[in-house]
Amino acid sequence: MIGSKLVEIEVPQKAMIVSHTDLNGVITYANDTFCLISGYSSSELVGKPHNILRHPDMPSSLFKNLWETVAEGKMWSGYVKNMTKDGGYYWVYAHVSRLFDKDGKPVGYKSLRQPVSKEKRNELEESYTRLKEIEEHKIKINTWIDADLIQKLTDGDSSLGTLNRRLREILG
Ligand SMILES: Cc1cc2nc3c(=O)[nH]c(=O)nc-3n(C[C@H](O)[C@H](O)[C@H](O)COP(=O)(O)O)c2cc1C
Repeated sequence: MIGSKLVEIEVPQKAMIVSHTDLNGVITYANDTFCLISGYSSSELVGKPHNILRHPDMPSSLFKNLWETVAEGKMWSGYVKNMTKDGGYYWVYAHVSRLFDKDGKPVGYKSLRQPVSKEKRNELEESYTRLKEIEEHKIKINTWIDADLIQKLTDGDSSLGTLNRRLREILG
């Protein structure tokens, strides 16, 4: 039998997948559609960190950007590939924003998610794979980077921006 890891769940056109978290990203609410598509029951999700759904193909920089954006009180929108309970996957376009209590105090975050077209999903598989490769190469290079190399990479300007730009050029 083909491994379930390869099975893509097609999110229905009208589906709205909803979850709420506390300020640390621990799930406090999951709607029925979320449970149905992810394969988890509500009681399996509530109380767990949201990375229970994290798919290994997702670049870390996306989530870093998500947390930085919502921590500033702004809404974050982005494409996410999630892993189902049985190791399958599904793509969503997510909108993450703050949740407030009745006194206007931030108490957590909510995420509303919609389906993604097949064409867009194909494009994302490629661009996220590329992004992950860049992330992984950067980690390796950072472990053996020395003064000579920094000189070569930066032409004397060792600012982080220049270094990252040169690394990106080298890694293609
Ligand atoms: C409201 C909200 C919804 C989130 N939804 C998801 C999600 O569907 N899938 C996911 O992998 N991470 C989601 N995250 C991000 C996770 O909290 C976490 O940052 C991410 O899975 C990366 O986990 P890691 O840093 O432990 O690897 C969400 C965060 C918030 C605040």
